[in-house]
Amino acid sequence: MNASKRPVVIPLIDHRSTTRLARHSITPTGLLTDQLARPLRDLRISVTDRCNFRCSYCMPKEVFDKDHQYLPHNSLLSFEEITRLARLFVAHGVRKIRLTGGEPLLRKNIEVLIAQLAKLRTADGQPLDLTLTTNGSLLARKAQALKDAGLNRVTVSLDGLDDVVFRSMNDVDFPVAEVLAGIDAAKAAGLTDIKVNMVVKRGTNEHEIIPMARHFKGTGVSLRFIEYMDVGATNGWRMDEVMPSAEVIQRLQTAWPLRALEAVSPGETAQRWAYQDGGGEVGVISSVTQAFCHDCNRARLSTEGKIYLCLFAHTGHDLRGLLREGADDASISSAIGHIWQGRTDQYSQLRASLPADASTGTPTRRVEMSYIGG
Ligand code: GTP
Ligand code: 5AD
Ligand code: SF4
Ligand code: SF4
Repeated sequence: MNASKRPVVIPLIDHRSTTRLARHSITPTGLLTDQLARPLRDLRISVTDRCNFRCSYCMPKEVFDKDHQYLPHNSLLSFEEITRLARLFVAHGVRKIRLTGGEPLLRKNIEVLIAQLAKLRTADGQPLDLTLTTNGSLLARKAQALKDAGLNRVTVSLDGLDDVVFRSMNDVDFPVAEVLAGIDAAKAAGLTDIKVNMVVKRGTNEHEIIPMARHFKGTGVSLRFIEYMDVGATNGWRMDEVMPSAEVIQRLQTAWPLRALEAVSPGETAQRWAYQDGGGEVGVISSVTQAFCHDCNRARLSTEGKIYLCLFAHTGHDLRGLLREGADDASISSAIGHIWQGRTDQYSQLRASLPADASTGTPTRRVEMSYIGG
C-alpha cells in the first residue's frame, strides 16, 4: 500500500483526566445509570491487542503488518489490575464479563485471570456470567483449562465452512477444520451455551449463510450472523458490502421456516429466531440497519486500561493511571461512577446524522476493534 494512502491506526493518546472525575465520591449501589438511563451490566475486557488472524474487516494485513507497533508488555494491565477493576465494575452493576482481544487466548496464562474473575460475585451475591470471544485457533488446546478455571461459556468467530473462503477471510491460511475441532473441544470440556459469530460481507461470504446454518442447526450451538460494521478506521468499510439482517433471515426462511423469539433481557445484541421444526435457534446482529444503542449496557476496558463507552469511540478514560498512582478503591470506583453517569454514546443510532468522510461515507476517527475488543 502507498504510504500516503495508508489508513491511520489512531494513536490512542488520551487527554481525558480521570483524576478530575475522582473528586466527588460515588458509592457503588449496583444501580448506576448513564445520561440515557442505561444501566451498566456488561464489561468487555481486552487482554491483548495481538491476533494470529488478519481478518480484512478487523486487522487488514496491509495495516497490521510487521512494522505495526503493538503495545509493550508493561503497558498491559496485569491480571491483578484487571481483577481489581473488574471487582469495582461489578459493584456498580456489571453481571457479565467477556474477555476479548485481539485474540484473548494469545495472552499467556489467561486461565489464571479467569480463575481470579470467576471468584467475583455480583452486588446481589450471584456468580458472574463469565465468557470469552475467540477465533478458535487455540481452543482445542485450551478448552479444558478454561473450563477448569471457571469459564462458563465461549463464543467462536467463524466466517464460513468453505475452506477456501475461510482461509482467505482470516488471511493467514488457517483451516476451518481446526476451528471446528476447537468448538468440539469446548463442548467436550463442558462449556455450555456455545455461540458462533459469522460476519457477513456481501460479495465475500454470503453464500456461506445456508451451509453454516445447516451445519450448526440441531447441534445446540447458536449461530449468529453479524452485519459488517464501520468499526475502526482501517477496514475500508462500504455500505454496499453490508448484508442487512432482514435479507439473511429471508434467505434462511427459504430453507427452514423461522419464528421470531422475544428478547430475554434488555440490551441484547442479537435478535433470535427459532427453527419451527425444533432445530434450535439462530440470531442476527443488526448494528448497521437496526441499531440497538437505546439500551446499550456495555463498557469496554482496553488492554492498557482505558474505558471506552462505545465501540465507535475515539478516546477512552484512563484508569491505569489511577491504579498505578496508588489510588484507593473508593476513588477508582468513584471515577468509574462519574464516567458512566456522564455517558451519552449512541453512535450507531446517530450514524446517519454524523458528518461523513467523503471517500468512505462514514465518520472516521475511531478506535480499532482489535484494541478494545468486539
Ligand atoms: P452474548 O451474551 O453471548 O449474547 O454476547 P453478545 O452478543 O453480547 O456479544 P458478542 O461479543 O458475541 O457480540 C457479537 C458481535 O456483536 C460483536 O462481535 C460485534 O460485532 C457486535 N456487538 C457487540 N456489542 C456491540 C455493541 O455494543 N455495539 C455494536 N454496534 N455492536 C456490538
Ligand atoms: N464488523 C462486524 N463485526 C466485527 N468484528 C470485528 N470486526 C468487525 C466488523 N468490522 C467482530 C466479529 C468477530 C469479533 C471478534 O469481532 O464478530 O467475530
Ligand atoms: Fe483477530 Fe478476531 Fe479481529 Fe479476526 S476479528 S483479526 S480473529 S481479533
Ligand atoms: Fe453501544 Fe456504541 Fe454499539 Fe450503540 S454503537 S450499541 S452505544 S457500543
